[in-house]
Parts: sequence; C-alpha cells; structure tokens
Amino acid sequence: MGDTLNVGVIGAGKISTAYATTFARLPGVAMTRVADLDAGRAAALAGQFEGVRSGTPEELLAADDVDLVLNLTVPQAHAAVALAAIASGKHVYGEKPLAAGTTDARGVLDAAARAGLVVGCAPDTVLGTGLQTARASVEAGDIGTPLAATAFMITPGHERWHPSPEFYYQPGGGPLLDMGPYYLSALVHLLGPVRRVTGVTATPRATREVGSGPNAGTVFPVEVATHVTGVLEHTGGAVTTLMMSFDIWAGQLPRIEVYGESGSLSVPDPNNFTGPVRLFTAATQDWADVPDRAGYRDAARGYGVADLARSLRDGTSPRASGELAFHVLDVMERLLEAAATGTSLDVASTCVVPAPVPLSAVPEPGA
Ligand SMILES: NC(=O)c1ccc[n+]([C@@H]2O[C@H](COP(=O)([O-])OP(=O)(O)OC[C@H]3O[C@@H](n4cnc5c(N)ncnc54)[C@H](O)[C@@H]3O)[C@@H](O)[C@H]2O)c1
Repeated sequence: MGDTLNVGVIGAGKISTAYATTFARLPGVAMTRVADLDAGRAAALAGQFEGVRSGTPEELLAADDVDLVLNLTVPQAHAAVALAAIASGKHVYGEKPLAAGTTDARGVLDAAARAGLVVGCAPDTVLGTGLQTARASVEAGDIGTPLAATAFMITPGHERWHPSPEFYYQPGGGPLLDMGPYYLSALVHLLGPVRRVTGVTATPRATREVGSGPNAGTVFPVEVATHVTGVLEHTGGAVTTLMMSFDIWAGQLPRIEVYGESGSLSVPDPNNFTGPVRLFTAATQDWADVPDRAGYRDAARGYGVADLARSLRDGTSPRASGELAFHVLDVMERLLEAAATGTSLDVASTCVVPAPVPLSAVPEPGA
C-alpha cells in the first residue's frame, strides 16, 4: 500500500453507491474496481466513477490494484467473500453483520490474523459527531456514573422499500442482526462491552411480501425472530433495555438514552452520523443541546474504511474493527439463544473500546 488504500468493492447493490460517493471525496482511499455476481450491477456502479474497472469477483481478487476488499454482499455471503479476500492477500472491510454467525466470523478473524491482514466492519456511523459527542459527554462526567440505557429500533419491516428484502428475514437478518450492530456498537462506545444477556423474541408473521420493484407482491418465508427484546449487562455495571422490531408501525420511543447518577443523555439515531445530543442534569433540571465536541464531521458510509487506512499508516487498530464487530455479533447471537432457551447467558467475548474520535474532518494518522 502506498499513500492511498486501493479499494475493490464486491457487491454492487443498494448500499454501494453511498460508499463510492464518499470515496470520491475522501483523501487516502480510492475505489479502483467493482465486482458482483451480477455483472451488469458492477458495470453500472463502476461506470459512474472515472477510472474504476468492473469485472468478476475472481478478477478483482487477483488484481494488483486492490489492497482492501470492501464486502457489500448480503449477510449470508459475508464470510465466504471475506475469506476469499484474505486468501488473496487483501485486507477486508465488510458491511454488518461481520458474518451470519460467530463460528463463521471467528473463522474470518483467525484467517486474517494468520495472514497478517486487517479486518474492519460496519457500522462507521458511530464515528460521526452524533455518537462521538454523546460519548465525550458521558466520559466528561456530564451525567455522572452511567447506570442504565435504553435502545429502541422499531419499523414495520424493510420489505416496504427494499426491492429484494428476503435476506432481512433469513439467518443473518432480522431486526437484531440487521439493525442491532448500530445500537450495540454505539452502546459499546458509550458503556463498554457486554458480559451477560437475557432475551425474549417473537415471530408474529410466517411470511412477508415484497413491497417494491420488479418482484413486488411476491410472498416469501420469515425464518428469523422479527420482534426482539433483551437486557444487556455491561462490564462497567450499566444495564441496557433493548427492543428491535420489524413488527411495529409507529411509536414515540427514543433511539438511545443513557441514564446516569446525576443526569440523562439523549443520543441520536446510531444509523446516522449526526444528530442532536441532549443533556439533562440534576443541577439544571432541564434539557439542553450539547454542541459537537468529537467525531468525524460530515462523515458518511466509508469513513470506517478511511479510518482503517489511517490505522494501517500509523500502526494502530481500526476503530470500526473486526474485534468490535465480533463482540457485537456474539452479544446478538447469545441474546437470541437466551430467548430460545429461556435463560440468561454469559457473553464469552469482549473487545477493546475503540479510541474516541477527535473532532476532525477526515481520519488523520496519529489521531
Ligand atoms: N440497503 C441499505 O440501506 C443498507 C444500509 C446499511 C447496510 N446495508 C448492508 O449492506 C449489505 C448489502 O445490502 P444491500 O442493501 O446493498 O443489498 P443488495 O441485495 O441490494 O446488494 C447485494 C449485492 O451483493 C451481490 N452479491 C451477493 N452475493 C455475492 C457474492 N458471493 N459475490 C459477489 N456479489 C454478491 C448481489 O448480486 C447484490 O448485487 C448488507 O449486509 C446490508 O445489511 C444495507
């Protein structure tokens, strides 16, 4: 790798344009190639950006002008594509979840470690000013010692807007594995890793219907829990109450709130990079906005890749790391297992909480 990390994208579906658009404006990262099982999709994405070539995944993996494979395939393909990238000597950064399950995810991390390669994983939303400002507020002691948190994600289901929504209802999908990574990564940044989980789940509907695109009206099976509730015990002692649902039309719930011994913090949507952070303290007895004090400004999907490029340059860990993504996946898998077996379960894995992001425009070496 020279001064620029060359990125080859595998999986040119719905989310790929967001990454490609970010790379076009970020220093230190360049998209050089695109591949997909669907050659037309790869060509369509590559064609929007000058100098980007499209081809098959095999061609991309064999190419000298790819340092890192950006894996934007569907969750069930995440592990296989990541392993192929590592076998080809490429670093890898994947969309969430890291893999459809922890056994596959462990295989990816072990293969990378053996090969001396780095694994990064979405979400990178938590590196933006929204969550990082909330984290800075907690770490500054604005609410005193954190005692508890809530995390709520409710939607009637992604089949209303995604033209091929089946993967959201297959293993690796569901509201927890799909949206949980945003919330759990945020909670790890705010409150540290999770040591124990309890859960209860429900699957009220056995089928769903594609709501848009050429397959609109197609009925498909639901293979995962679509309403997930749980309790997370963080290693620092705080307790999170969580609900992630594809079964709720509307509600007036916060996304994430953190409650401390001397105040409360309202945290923005962890699926976004920015958003209002609001603080209530026992001293003021009122809510006030917290101005941006940490995080990558104007960030968008792809900043996690740029942060990984930074880490390769300065010899540190990427913030959107495979280790964090593995722990988050482990927490989610144990929560579903606890629900299925009617018990509380210990979470065997842990992770280092990523370094806070200083208020900055782009990932810089040494920061
Ligand atoms: N759509 C969103 O808004 C969104 C947002 C954030 C994250 N994500 C995540 O991004 C990932 C992709 O989501 P999407 O919505 O872009 O899906 P998508 O179905 O629109 O696109 C996935 C693409 O991957 C290709 N693909 C699948 N298996 C492959 C393989 N083995 N080799 C090469 N190509 C393969 C498919 O042909 C398809 O073009 C998922 O993990 C999803 O959770 C999606």
